[in-house]
Amino acid sequence: MTSRGACVPHFVRGVTEVMLRRVTPAPSPCGAKRLAGGPDTQFRWIVESGFLPSRAGALRGMTGQGKPQKDGEREHKRSPCVGLPLSLDHDQEKLVTAINQVVEHFRTHFSSTPEGVWEAPGRVNLMGEHTDYNHGLVLPIALPQRTYAAVRRRDDSLVRLMSVGMPPAQAIPITDIAPGSPKGWERYPAGVIWAFANHGYADQVTGIDAVFTSEVPVGAGLSSSAAIEGAMAVALSDLWDLGLTKDDQGRATLANLAQSAENIIAQAPTGGMDQAACLRSREGHALYLDCADQSIRHIPFRLDDTGLALLVIDTRATHAHSTGEYGHRRSDCQEACAILGIDTLREISVDDLDGVLKRLPNDRLRRRVRHIVSETHRVRLSAQAMEAGDFVELGKLFVDSHASMRDDYEISCPELDVAVIASLECGALGARMTGGGFGGSAIALVYRQSLREMMEWIGSAFDQKGFATPDFLVAEAGRKAGRVAY
Ligand code: GLA
Repeated sequence: MTSRGACVPHFVRGVTEVMLRRVTPAPSPCGAKRLAGGPDTQFRWIVESGFLPSRAGALRGMTGQGKPQKDGEREHKRSPCVGLPLSLDHDQEKLVTAINQVVEHFRTHFSSTPEGVWEAPGRVNLMGEHTDYNHGLVLPIALPQRTYAAVRRRDDSLVRLMSVGMPPAQAIPITDIAPGSPKGWERYPAGVIWAFANHGYADQVTGIDAVFTSEVPVGAGLSSSAAIEGAMAVALSDLWDLGLTKDDQGRATLANLAQSAENIIAQAPTGGMDQAACLRSREGHALYLDCADQSIRHIPFRLDDTGLALLVIDTRATHAHSTGEYGHRRSDCQEACAILGIDTLREISVDDLDGVLKRLPNDRLRRRVRHIVSETHRVRLSAQAMEAGDFVELGKLFVDSHASMRDDYEISCPELDVAVIASLECGALGARMTGGGFGGSAIALVYRQSLREMMEWIGSAFDQKGFATPDFLVAEAGRKAGRVAY
């Protein structure tokens, strides 16, 4: 495909019109085969590499190599589809490289050896956006992209946090960790230490030295902050011998501690989905999490045999959840609950929705409630579709979900809408924004054989609109946080 025009038959014109309705997948305008048979070696490198070559700059951004980044600030560069074919054991190589990197850095800067290395994944959510703080359902997967932490206990109560490429750490006494302090990426791991100290583990808490590095892109809506918190949480549980990594109940506790770090120290009013995805997921599965009681089910999610792939489109449009619109959406939900005399929007069933909406005084609240109730219902339907192997149905649910987020919850943005529309134009089974919104990433369920066309098509759609060039990765359901060395 060389130009958008060459790839746009009649099907495309209908797409924007039917976005609010369900899209029945039609033959791909990009010429991709609808039935992909066997592994597509041409694109294997993208899957396995997690497009690391194009990500190097973003990783440095998170950990501070080069210019430090503020919330929402993004490095500018990169074209889609960059990277080189990589060997089949690239995942292992990547892991060993990351471990060596944090250990070396630790030795150089702290003149000692870490007691271990821990890793934790970013996440991408398949369905259930903004439902977590409404006690609804969510369906994320852990990503293969991970954050690594080399950690050692100290004999005093100082905390020294470093990230590969950053200047030597400023030591912080544990007692100085408080809401809003420290700032920058350090607030996430420091916040986790604070959470342990303030939620029942004060006796075990010691000072620590830690070095981080990460593959999770920052600002892409893929929970780079939860990955830092998750790596810190599993490391501290193991080092302080708390046993919380051993079973899911302990991991649920770690997820709650990590969430309070995010809410109280980093002051981002988020729900608990990201930390649960990071700490409680299972490889090859999506995490069906009921945020009302924190119960989970693991839903198989392996696309390898289906000829499909989950393409993540990082729009590179900035977002930040510590301020602004995310909090406003939360307040809207609380306001609706107060008017309806209920504790959480989860109490409204999809069957009662029409009646409930009539009791709300304005259209804004009606739309917010409609999104939350319908989105939790879509999580149930998505899990059913995945269990039945019905990816056409899953794709339709993606489209419905995006329309609901765009029109009712109003958390999309022009870049996300273009990513979704361009994906559908190019034959995706479905596409939706993912995560908190207002920027960040979209996901598309696509035929593996059409990945290259899809990326080019979306890239040219962005170009035509004058947007920054998007980044891509092909997501698979990765493993949860844990110890990887020593
Ligand atoms: C962000 C928050 C999560 C969740 C999502 C939206 O990722 O951290 O708690 O609310 O947005 O689903």
